[in-house]
Amino acid sequence: MKKLSKYPILLLLYSAATLLVLSYCKGEKQQPVYEDLGSVKSRIINTNTDFEKQINELKTLVSKDSDEKILQERFENIRKTYKKMEWAIEYFLPHSARFINGPALPEIEMDEHTEIDPEGLQVLEELFYPYQKENKDEVNRMLNKLINKSNTIKTNFQVITVSRDQVFDALRQEAFRISSLGISGFDTPISGTFLKEIPSALEGIKETLEQISTDRSKDKALKSIASEINSAIEILKKNTDKNTFDYINFIPDHLNKITALMLDFKNQEKIPDVEVTTALNKNAATFFSKNAFNPNAFTPGKEYAFSEEKAALGHKLFNDKILSNNNSRSCATCHIPEKAFTDGLARSMSLENSELSRNTPSLNYAGFQHGQFWDMRKDDLEGQSSDVISNKEEMHGDLNVILAKINQDKNYQTAFKKIYHSQKTEVWQLQNVLASYIRSLAKFNSDFDEYMRGNKSAMTKSQKQGFNLFVGKAQCAICHFIPLFNGTVPPTFKKTEQEVLGIATNGENKTFDNDLGRGKFHETVATLQHSFKTPTLRNSNKTAPYMHNGGYKTLKEVMNFYNKGGGKSFGFKVENQTLSDAPLQLTEHEIDDIIEFMKALDDQ
Ligand code: HEC
Ligand code: HEC
Repeated sequence: MKKLSKYPILLLLYSAATLLVLSYCKGEKQQPVYEDLGSVKSRIINTNTDFEKQINELKTLVSKDSDEKILQERFENIRKTYKKMEWAIEYFLPHSARFINGPALPEIEMDEHTEIDPEGLQVLEELFYPYQKENKDEVNRMLNKLINKSNTIKTNFQVITVSRDQVFDALRQEAFRISSLGISGFDTPISGTFLKEIPSALEGIKETLEQISTDRSKDKALKSIASEINSAIEILKKNTDKNTFDYINFIPDHLNKITALMLDFKNQEKIPDVEVTTALNKNAATFFSKNAFNPNAFTPGKEYAFSEEKAALGHKLFNDKILSNNNSRSCATCHIPEKAFTDGLARSMSLENSELSRNTPSLNYAGFQHGQFWDMRKDDLEGQSSDVISNKEEMHGDLNVILAKINQDKNYQTAFKKIYHSQKTEVWQLQNVLASYIRSLAKFNSDFDEYMRGNKSAMTKSQKQGFNLFVGKAQCAICHFIPLFNGTVPPTFKKTEQEVLGIATNGENKTFDNDLGRGKFHETVATLQHSFKTPTLRNSNKTAPYMHNGGYKTLKEVMNFYNKGGGKSFGFKVENQTLSDAPLQLTEHEIDDIIEFMKALDDQ
């Protein structure tokens, strides 16, 4: 709770500093650094007033023991009101957003190895679907907490300064949030009412764009956005069943168009970019545009920036056995390009010929995650390579010995010098070229990407149906986020999630695999025990066998595990399982469609 109470004070300090900057600049007779958009803020505050009013009304209905149906309907309306201002809360007050609409799981304070109890709309969803009178006190407690948060929104927006570039950036993020998290139903996992909420989020975008446009009547992009948003809303109003919604066409036909038009709007209105490096490039029209992603948002610092030259040198080293102790192995011994950089084994053999404890993961798209290895024990690829090279079982190499070998090799020496301009090759440079090579292994050219770019013949009927099931009935996209299909959370891509599935030692699902995963490094955090990073599903058709232990031989075995409801449903004691244990009730035919869809994620 400590962080919570600290936050508004920090914001106040921040605003005070902003005011200082402003007055200083005025003194110098310069343009103010921050323009303040009062009308935009008033709209947020007004929406927030509605939000608070609706929560209070729901409280009254709860106290009167109203019908479950009525309570649920009112609850849905509260969520819709939140969605109207979600763009602003998520961007300007991310900490409040976590406690208003974060997952109904404890918030982990990694540095302090502690957990904070969850609260907010998703906890309330669990209490309303279904509603039980004996939970009345808890419902009240949660509604009161929500009113507190709503007060925080008001007080904050009364004092903070928001500028036009930030507002645009926030709205753009919201459009991308809808295109990934929103349509996956990640925040209504029980009620599945998300399709009914998206119109409110889209309206929030439309109305605010109108507010920040300099000339509403002349702005062509703005008009097109409004009409695109209206037609998207019409489709959403007609199709509210998550199990039958046509996600595969809704994204390219509507959502991609909206994000692309927003880029036109930005250019037309000459809105500058906010100055931070983001994983999604500022000039990406859609998630699926060529070069939409910037690998430099995942590096430890500026000097580690990606270049083709570094990647080419890294490629050479990746295949060179000098990286191992006795020149017997290269990285490619276990990470074989034809198998999407895996090795086809459940677990690879160590140098001493015993089995390693985990399965070799694919390196495709490994550059787009904030956690390396199944247990995320390293933050970035630079840290990862030193771990592997020096690992006794994997390569048992000594970075200093390797450096000596490299410094004796004329070709390597010249190549390193050309890139880094230093006398001798240094350890971080060796790590950086290997990491750069891995960052280059993200082609984004699968049939699915093609389909998303408008080529309607790129996927088969079964694959399209499979994607609709993947997002809708099977709820896979609430963890394997579109468009990377890993656990790196859109639209900011600033963190990568781990999850607890309750994996068995093999596809027969008879014995629980007791690998603690990430929990090994956070013994006091109950939620993290047996948790593993959500891997990308891109190219998973080529990466069998599956899971951190390589225990599942085929995608069919993986699907059977999910369809039943994960470890809990096989009788394992995994109290902290984050995967829903409700059976998915997929038919054999539907399972086959999902597997076919995963094949459409193979890079060409
Ligand atoms: C003996 C086989 C083997 C060799 C050789 C090997 N790796 Fe790996 N690699 C693995 C295994 C197994 C893991 C997973 C270990 C874990 O998660 O605990 C892994 C994990 C990784 C990861 C993390 C990927 C992710 O998504 O978490 C990267 C990156 C990686 N290796 C790169 C390399 C590089 C670069 C080299 C050469 C310097 C290399 N590996 C050599 C077997 C190997
Ligand atoms: C609650 C989050 C969550 C959901 C929902 C989820 N996954 Fe996963 N998925 C994970 C995690 C975490 C792993 C890695 C688990 C491990 O190895 O212990 C994983 C692993 C996989 C793998 C193995 C990948 C590999 O490289 O070994 C496949 C395939 C997969 N998931 C497909 C799916 C499909 C299809 C669905 C929907 C039916 C789905 N997932 C739903 C979190 C999730």
